[in-house]
Amino acid sequence: MIFNYKIPIFKYSLEDWDSKKSKILSLLETKFSSSEQIRQGYREQIENSHGLRNQPTTEVETDFYEGFTQNWKDTPHYKGDMIELLLPELRKLVEDSGIPPRYDATAMWYERAKKTEVHGVHDHGAKGISAVLYVELNDNQKGTRFYSEWGEDFALDLDVKEGDIIFFPCWLKHGGSKNTEDEIRTIVSFNMIRIRPEEDEWEPSDTDYQNFTVHV
Ligand SMILES: [Fe+2]
Repeated sequence: MIFNYKIPIFKYSLEDWDSKKSKILSLLETKFSSSEQIRQGYREQIENSHGLRNQPTTEVETDFYEGFTQNWKDTPHYKGDMIELLLPELRKLVEDSGIPPRYDATAMWYERAKKTEVHGVHDHGAKGISAVLYVELNDNQKGTRFYSEWGEDFALDLDVKEGDIIFFPCWLKHGGSKNTEDEIRTIVSFNMIRIRPEEDEWEPSDTDYQNFTVHV
């Protein structure tokens, strides 16, 4: 090894959490009411195409895959409202991390784990910044567990509580440990990618990846 370097993970606690929590839960309410349908879609995706098929223990409820059948830009319906609620923390992230503007949220989804359910080790792609907001997390439930790139023998359980949001590099391997509680554990996650400063909107295409040359 030539040298060690640090991997940035930022954590913030949302202010006025009780009020924001009820707003977020009401934004997600329509999704929760079709949870069985969403779970079934997720199972099919795991079986058919996603790399998670190698992780038989992965079993959570998520609307993640809806972005593949609809336009990520407009999906999910709660993305704009959620970003609005998170603006204070996003501004703190820009200030603390020194990341240059501008980043766009390119994908957002929620995840719910019932008792015994777990989300196996995964990452969110090669570049960008990922976020996890802990919407329902009781004192005995664990948050995200991060893993070393070189194996799962080194793991870091972040000390988080409900109402916290964390930001980390997309490529950093992580997972949601088994929910040992009767209460459901709920998170909202999203990815952000840097866009060219002169662009007002990002229209993804297969050919313009060279525009996004800055890794974070
Ligand atoms: Fe994740």
